[in-house]
Amino acid sequence: MVRALLAIAVPVAALVPGPWSDTSLPAQQRAALVVANLTLDEKLAFLHGPHGRNSQCTTDAKCAYVGNVAGNDRLDIPPITMQDGPQGFRVTGNKATSTAWPSGLTMAASWDPDALYAWGRGMGREFYAKGANVQLGPGLCLARVPRNGRNFEYLSGEDPFLGATLAFPAISGIQAQKVVANAKHFVFNNQETNRLKVSAKVDERTRFEMYYPPFQGAIDAGVGSVMCSYNRIGGTYSCENPETLRELKETMGFKGYVVSDWLATHSTSLMAGLDMEMPSDRFMNPAMIKTGLEEGNITASAVDDSVARILRSMFDVGVMDEPSSTWDWKKLQKNVTTEEAALVARQLSQVSTVLLKNEGGTLPLAKGQKLAVLGFADLGTVVHAGGSGKVMPSFVAKPLDTIRAAAGEGAEVSFNNGTDIAAAVELASSADVAIIFVATLSQEGRDRDSLSLDDGCVVNEREYNDQCKGNGDRQNELVAAVAAANPKTVVVASVPGAVLMPWSGDVAAILTNFMPGQQAGFAIADVLFGVVNPSGKLPLTFPNRENETELAPSQWPGLPENNPTEETYSEELLVGYRYYDAKGIEFTTGFPFGHGLSYTKFEYSDLYVFHDCLGEACDLGRPLFETVSFTVKNVGQVAGAEVAQLYLGFPKEAGEPPLQLKGFKKTKALEPGQEERVEIYLNPARDAAIWDARAHDWALVPGLFDVKVGASSRDIRLAGNFTQGMRAVPREPELLV
Ligand code: BGC
Repeated sequence: MVRALLAIAVPVAALVPGPWSDTSLPAQQRAALVVANLTLDEKLAFLHGPHGRNSQCTTDAKCAYVGNVAGNDRLDIPPITMQDGPQGFRVTGNKATSTAWPSGLTMAASWDPDALYAWGRGMGREFYAKGANVQLGPGLCLARVPRNGRNFEYLSGEDPFLGATLAFPAISGIQAQKVVANAKHFVFNNQETNRLKVSAKVDERTRFEMYYPPFQGAIDAGVGSVMCSYNRIGGTYSCENPETLRELKETMGFKGYVVSDWLATHSTSLMAGLDMEMPSDRFMNPAMIKTGLEEGNITASAVDDSVARILRSMFDVGVMDEPSSTWDWKKLQKNVTTEEAALVARQLSQVSTVLLKNEGGTLPLAKGQKLAVLGFADLGTVVHAGGSGKVMPSFVAKPLDTIRAAAGEGAEVSFNNGTDIAAAVELASSADVAIIFVATLSQEGRDRDSLSLDDGCVVNEREYNDQCKGNGDRQNELVAAVAAANPKTVVVASVPGAVLMPWSGDVAAILTNFMPGQQAGFAIADVLFGVVNPSGKLPLTFPNRENETELAPSQWPGLPENNPTEETYSEELLVGYRYYDAKGIEFTTGFPFGHGLSYTKFEYSDLYVFHDCLGEACDLGRPLFETVSFTVKNVGQVAGAEVAQLYLGFPKEAGEPPLQLKGFKKTKALEPGQEERVEIYLNPARDAAIWDARAHDWALVPGLFDVKVGASSRDIRLAGNFTQGMRAVPREPELLV
């Protein structure tokens, strides 16, 4: 009664008052206090979804969201309401009621932690408004295989440092909205071919140096949950793999809970480190866990630990301290998009757009010209790709409309969707500028057939039939023909990852906006006409040719052929640009990692590498920080921001790839003539260390490190070095003498 009255005056926390109500206590302690108050049956109810099926409904709390865990009525603990996906709220009932944000990979192209925070915040707000307290994202896998069908969902691109750095603000943004983020898919779900069975063979050093860092970034941000993946690792399913789950929880210090990917549970794996089965209770059901407890295969403390991890994440982000009405499944029907969200989505797409080429200052476009707009600029506009990460947009800004609106007085804008190549060429030849929108798609559950634009334009999903519709399988021919007819041909590529651009030498300008979200048209028109100066950089390599990194079938998609059950990561650290650098591959039609131009020019100068150490650390030659600072100056005619990149070259004996990204900074928008002093702090224990598989720990590498600073991995402007102390071995002082 008292609670009911209070609820009218001020909304009260859902949770029945108790010692756990003290919000000044750490989340872990509050969770432990609740666990101590739960019966065994109450505890076990948290460890699984209520249904043995994987379908959503619009009529029942038990199946309203993609994942549903019953709340506890006695203590009034809210239900756990989980929804896809990593790039916005995936609506299955009342469609088109959430914002279709740019995808994870698109956001990676921003190289801008502030943008990632805004993205997380924007998405988190909509989950909250829909009554969902877990967002099944962000996706953090590395683009190891250029043709992986889900690369578009992942914000790591092909670099672990980029992933770790961007995971942090994305998760902080989501969780600040009282929504638990979910880092997925842990781990080695780097291909979709036979994802339910294939087993990844990955050595320990490669695990820690390449694939774990984005998850470490998530852990450092306090991520509440991690999704274990479908695939097997070393023959054991990821969700029952004691080794990788121990590395996650113990070595990397993850404090939240591990939830299985949907139907990725194959046993009652509590003791191996799985905390929650989704969406069903085939293996983590009360009966089986009780049997395990009786037979001594499962310990009571392991059950307590799993429940505490789940509740801890709910306390930590504030789910528990919200009124009960917050997590009401009926909110699913609400339209939660806002004008503000649309504006932010537009800005995020702008800052993620990458200018790959711009010969003779073709871009930005002058007003009042005769423009031929071709390809997927109208009905076929590509917003994003398929699978659980899809978000049905409530509306799509079509480039044709936005270009028409922006083209200025006296402009003539004509359109041809490119299906009839001859007609498109005719239109292009009489225009001042031809702008071709090319696109291809990909989806969860399968890898792409090739990196060609001519493959994969039609995704077999009803909702996507409009995207990329038309002459999807002759786009290279279209571009080549139009480029031959008009020297001022501009290509805009909306793509789910790397694509081949065999015609890149023949066109005047190229932009990619990856999977730009519903504001596609506005954002690209802003860039085309110079309202916004592009500042994105490639988060992955655009190869010159198919399989340029020479992946053997044993590496991808695995062996035996047709039904691969084992994929070996024998390339070890040589993923993406690390391979290109090691093999000295030059770029002819492709573009290197980190590449991205601007409408202005930047000059780099005054590199300064500064050792900072304290007391004994100095005597031992062990720096606490290396500070790398330099100046970036806008020496062009218009304002613009630059992503300055810092690559380290390790001493040869360390056996590392030639260059590795270890720092970056997007400057503010610099006015012509304006400069910014950039300071990047290297933490040697993390950035100048390698994983020592014998010690199962990071080990500082002694010796001379190259410091290279530039505008891309292949556009190095400044070089310096530093020496790391010869006797510097952390955590083993006896070895220092
Ligand atoms: C996907 C996950 C997704 C889940 C729930 C799975 O097929 O791999 O990323 O969160 O389905 O829809």
